[in-house]
Amino acid sequence: MSSRDNFGSRFGILVAMAGSAVGLGNLWRFPYLVGTNGGAAFIIIYLAFVLVLCLPIMYSEFIIGRRSHANVFGAFRVLAPGTKWGVVGIIAMLGSISILSFYCVVGGWTIDYMVKAVTFKFSTDVNGLSTMFQETVTSSYEPLVFLLIFLAITGLIVVAGVKKGIEKYTKVMMPVLFVMVIIIAIRSLTLPDAGKGVAFLFNPDFSKVTSTTILEALGQAFFSLSLGCGTIITYASYVKKGENIVKTSVYTAIADTLFAIIAGLAIMPAVFAFGISPSQGPGLVFVTLPHIFTQIPLGSILAILFFFILFIAAVTSSISLLEVVVAYIKEEFKISRIAAVCISLSVVTVFGIFCSLSQGVLADIKILGNNIFDFFDNISANVFMPIGGMLAVIFVGWKMTKADYTDEITSGGTIPLRPFFLNLTRLIIKYIAPIVIAIIMIRGWM
Ligand code: TRP
Repeated sequence: MSSRDNFGSRFGILVAMAGSAVGLGNLWRFPYLVGTNGGAAFIIIYLAFVLVLCLPIMYSEFIIGRRSHANVFGAFRVLAPGTKWGVVGIIAMLGSISILSFYCVVGGWTIDYMVKAVTFKFSTDVNGLSTMFQETVTSSYEPLVFLLIFLAITGLIVVAGVKKGIEKYTKVMMPVLFVMVIIIAIRSLTLPDAGKGVAFLFNPDFSKVTSTTILEALGQAFFSLSLGCGTIITYASYVKKGENIVKTSVYTAIADTLFAIIAGLAIMPAVFAFGISPSQGPGLVFVTLPHIFTQIPLGSILAILFFFILFIAAVTSSISLLEVVVAYIKEEFKISRIAAVCISLSVVTVFGIFCSLSQGVLADIKILGNNIFDFFDNISANVFMPIGGMLAVIFVGWKMTKADYTDEITSGGTIPLRPFFLNLTRLIIKYIAPIVIAIIMIRGWM
């Protein structure tokens, strides 16, 4: 295993982890969820979930990866030889493939819209933009072409390896991403009536909090922190002993949450300044925002900037998903990285093509009542992610001994952690996390 790639620096680990976490989820869902679920009330619930539940889950995945220094499947062979625990890795990997399949389609749209922004293709009226988006996603070739471009970029970064690819590129892309989103936030906050957007985000309104809010908050935290699909396990497997698991996880969560809030400040004030009702998902970023960009001074530059932000956020997440599959194929079938990338990209490309055409020519194909795109989205959120996350915590809580758990999280005792913290976290990993995930998952199915 000595030939295994590793991250080269502490900063590199952090930006790669943050790059995985910060993604489309932060930009097009978080701001909307906050606004419609009681503003600051939602943020408080979200933060509580991150702190109490998601961080311990992240430590668990981190422990599995760093202790084994192996891919999602191999990790369990190292840690629990002769058992069936490897299935957890397979579930996580299927989750990664499933997310990638629809995520990369959206990644393709971001490149498409970047090109449209550069060539001033945006019409000044909302209907025109709405039609444009419809035509873009239902076209029989356009989403496909840009999907392939997006996948090729993702593949090229991953082929270059962990240190010379993932780390090298995220080191540049993540700081750029933060600076750019701050620039847009400043522009947005200086628009007249920006206060309404800020109020939408931050006015705490606990009367809007329902059981659905709680469900949404946890689902969003899970997705946003990249839990349950093996990305943390895989990235952690490239982290050397001695690094602080708790600190790295906490910084990742802080970066992710901070970015989500800044994204909200970049988007919502502009939406309210123009008296538009906020939406979420594709409608928000591909229709509402282009409309705003056509109205404000320097808007055409901001539009390019914004779609570039979306694109970078999507790429740094999709490389983390692809790496899960690549590491598995490369190590389990003992083939070269480039071959592993080609094989995993082929699989993702096939699913991705179906997803990309499922809004248009394949719209009539329904799986369990959903089109193909939504099917992959739903099965990831309701099956793979919760089951993958739940089994990972059950493994660390029940199969790993307390001594092994303590040894790993403290890096062999070199990182001082209070016994109270260790016990509490272990308690959450052992009992609370599996139960809460099970409840949320079953509610999601109803
Ligand atoms: N966290 C990313 C986002 O917010 C998406 C993502 C990357 C992800 N890797 C993941 C989600 C693993 C779940 C599991 O867009």
